[in-house]
Amino acid sequence: MNHRTPDLAIETSGLVKTFGSTRAVDGVDLRVPAGTVYGVLGPNGAGKTTAVRVLATLLRPDGGEARVFGHDVLREADAVRGRVSLTGQYASLDEDLTGTENLVLLARLIGHRKPAARRRAEQLLEAFGLSEAGGRQVKTYSGGMRRRIDIAASILKTPDLLFLDEPTTGLDPRSRSQVWDIVRLIVAQGTTVLLTTQYLDEADHLASRIAVIDHGKVIAEGTPGELKSSVGAGSVQVRLRDSAQRPEAERVLARVLGDGSGAVQRDPDPVRLTARVGGEQTGHEAAELAARALTELTRAGVAVDDFSLGQPSLDEVFLALTDSPATTHDSDDTKEVAA
Ligand SMILES: Nc1ncnc2c1ncn2[C@@H]1O[C@H](COP(=O)(O)OP(=O)(O)OP(=O)(O)O)[C@@H](O)[C@H]1O
Ligand SMILES: [Mg+2]
Repeated sequence: MNHRTPDLAIETSGLVKTFGSTRAVDGVDLRVPAGTVYGVLGPNGAGKTTAVRVLATLLRPDGGEARVFGHDVLREADAVRGRVSLTGQYASLDEDLTGTENLVLLARLIGHRKPAARRRAEQLLEAFGLSEAGGRQVKTYSGGMRRRIDIAASILKTPDLLFLDEPTTGLDPRSRSQVWDIVRLIVAQGTTVLLTTQYLDEADHLASRIAVIDHGKVIAEGTPGELKSSVGAGSVQVRLRDSAQRPEAERVLARVLGDGSGAVQRDPDPVRLTARVGGEQTGHEAAELAARALTELTRAGVAVDDFSLGQPSLDEVFLALTDSPATTHDSDDTKEVAA
């Protein structure tokens, strides 16, 4: 990191943050291109929030370097603060005030005159589908409404970089997709978004690139497509008519789809099976193998209600990378996925 790269919103090198003996962030290298949504994906305790708080200058790193738009988070913290916003940072929303009152108040705090503050508040409430709720006290809002007004408050002044730390955790599918629309809207206006999530489909929908982190380390990085193709050319999903035939179906799939070990995954639903099609095949070869698998299942007398070939899901990527939640990783197990 001798020279600054202007088109990177975030650049970190060997970033470390410890809490006592816990290495919450343990040597993280990130390069986040400006103007994109970058996903940071990881399970509970992976170090996502800690990394975000270091990048937003709320925590001091213990090692390595981090720059935001070329500014060092330690030496040029003010310059960084001037360009970033973090949801939850303004958790100072007053529960007793209405949505409109909160936004107007915060807009005035950042220097808008009253008419401009009102206009900005109305504009945001409208964009976030909260116009009708604007007149109600925030304490009466549902979880989804609350999340949306938190995000609205964090972009009163359009930041160059917005940190969204698990913006949809605990939301129902409808509220989640509303938040996704808001994120797309924000990025379309030129803001870079760093989004942390535990939901693979969320990263898949929104992010142009994803860093998978576990135990404070980046264990894979790339576009959603690159991450998926790193675990195989495709993934076969089978729904059986009779769960008693699962062992037979597993044997057939393991035999036809290649080297076997771990290729067939058990779903909690006893009639469903997922099998990876080996890593070396092209999409066309994967399709031929899948067709053979279906033929062989039929020949073996396994009744199949549903059969499909798709890209591996990010869930499968995650399982393949992390083995199990209890696994500990040492320093040289980073999987290089990006070219
Ligand atoms: N202030 C703190 N003091 C001590 N330990 C901390 C502190 N903050 C975080 N940790 C520890 O650092 C590790 C990473 O925590 P962090 O909150 O960054 O994870 P996360 O990926 O955001 O998890 P989640 O998905 O649950 O939000 C955890 O082991 C956590 O217990
Ligand atoms: Mg967190």
